[in-house]
Amino acid sequence: MNKFKSSCVLAALIFGTTLFLAGQEPQVPASNPPPPEPPAGAANGPHPGPAAQLPASGPRAGGATKPAAQGPPNRAAMMRKFLGIGAPPDPAAVDRGQKLFVANCAFCHGSTANGGATGPDLVRSVVVLHDQGTGKDIGKVVLNGRPDKGMPKFNMTEAQIKDIAAFLLSRTQAAANRGSYEIQNIVTGDAKAGETYFNAHCSSCHSPSGDLAHIAAKYDPVALQSRFLYPRDRRAFGTEGPPPNPKSEITVKVTLASGQSYEGRLDHIDDFSVALVEPSGEYHSWLLDAEKGIKVEVHNPLQAHADMLPEYTNADMHNILAYLEKLK
Ligand code: HEC
Ligand code: HEC
Repeated sequence: MNKFKSSCVLAALIFGTTLFLAGQEPQVPASNPPPPEPPAGAANGPHPGPAAQLPASGPRAGGATKPAAQGPPNRAAMMRKFLGIGAPPDPAAVDRGQKLFVANCAFCHGSTANGGATGPDLVRSVVVLHDQGTGKDIGKVVLNGRPDKGMPKFNMTEAQIKDIAAFLLSRTQAAANRGSYEIQNIVTGDAKAGETYFNAHCSSCHSPSGDLAHIAAKYDPVALQSRFLYPRDRRAFGTEGPPPNPKSEITVKVTLASGQSYEGRLDHIDDFSVALVEPSGEYHSWLLDAEKGIKVEVHNPLQAHADMLPEYTNADMHNILAYLEKLK
């Protein structure tokens, strides 16, 4: 929980106007594919940034990310993680974690962690959702147990718990992908309470008779829950694929010391560079070190969703879903 709160603060900084900040999160493995190639000739366009000085083989901003491996944490990876897209956990850790889980936990929680006869579903557990693969929240439950509630305590090392956390993260990420597992009856909440929550937290952007009308006819309950927990299209940011929903597109405004500014879809951002595509399709990138006084403002329409994620209680999630399910 604390960690999540600090992520919020950090994200607020990232999305604010200052790009260079001291507070850093632990590094997330940067396993995303490189950003798409800029349109031909982009580096030599009418307004070439300093990135155009890079060798011809690597004009794109991504070419500057290399030193991140041993240098400062990769901000782009942190952003992806925060936006709920999440870097996938290390497959070797997932594999070890799965073995530990099946041996120690599956008896009660089911071998896929979707719940068993005597233990709750961990894929939709708030504890697991908050843990984000770190092992911090899960570790507390595993090491102390909840003996009065039927959860025994385990003597496990930090490394073992981290591996289990990686396995559970892979399960929650799979659950955020539509249709990847069996649908269970998850519509157990109170629709009236959900409506109250909606009016307080969601109606500034959404309307049950407007954009969300018939939303429940569009998605099954599992997909609908994923949509409001993680509305970012999975391929929208930093990966290749169909263009993202324009309503959720991350945009950026770059202002140079001269006062000249550029605005467009965020193509790439990390510790060293920023790149955008203007509405005309023109691509620009800048090396931050080379551009003294550069100001970068990122606008993420889904920031509110990212901020709400750690705030929902289990009951909130079920109540919201029960309410949205009524919008057939
Ligand atoms: C004997 C059955 C049993 C075993 C074995 C077991 N658990 Fe549990 N676990 C439970 C029960 C029951 C609860 C719910 C406790 C409660 O209601 O607070 C629980 C709760 C949890 C929670 C908290 C879920 C939440 O949202 O509050 C986590 C995390 C968890 N278990 C992880 C594990 C892991 C990891 C293992 C294996 C190392 C494991 N459990 C083994 C029965 C078990
Ligand atoms: C500050 C604005 C804002 C707030 C507040 C907000 N959302 Fe969203 N929401 C968006 C944007 C932007 C999108 C992505 C564009 C879209 O699909 O409409 C989105 C997408 C969604 C979607 C997916 C729609 C689809 O067709 O796939 C659902 C469901 C949703 N939000 C539910 C909620 C709920 C429930 C709340 C309150 C708990 C909420 N939103 C609060 C801005 C907001």
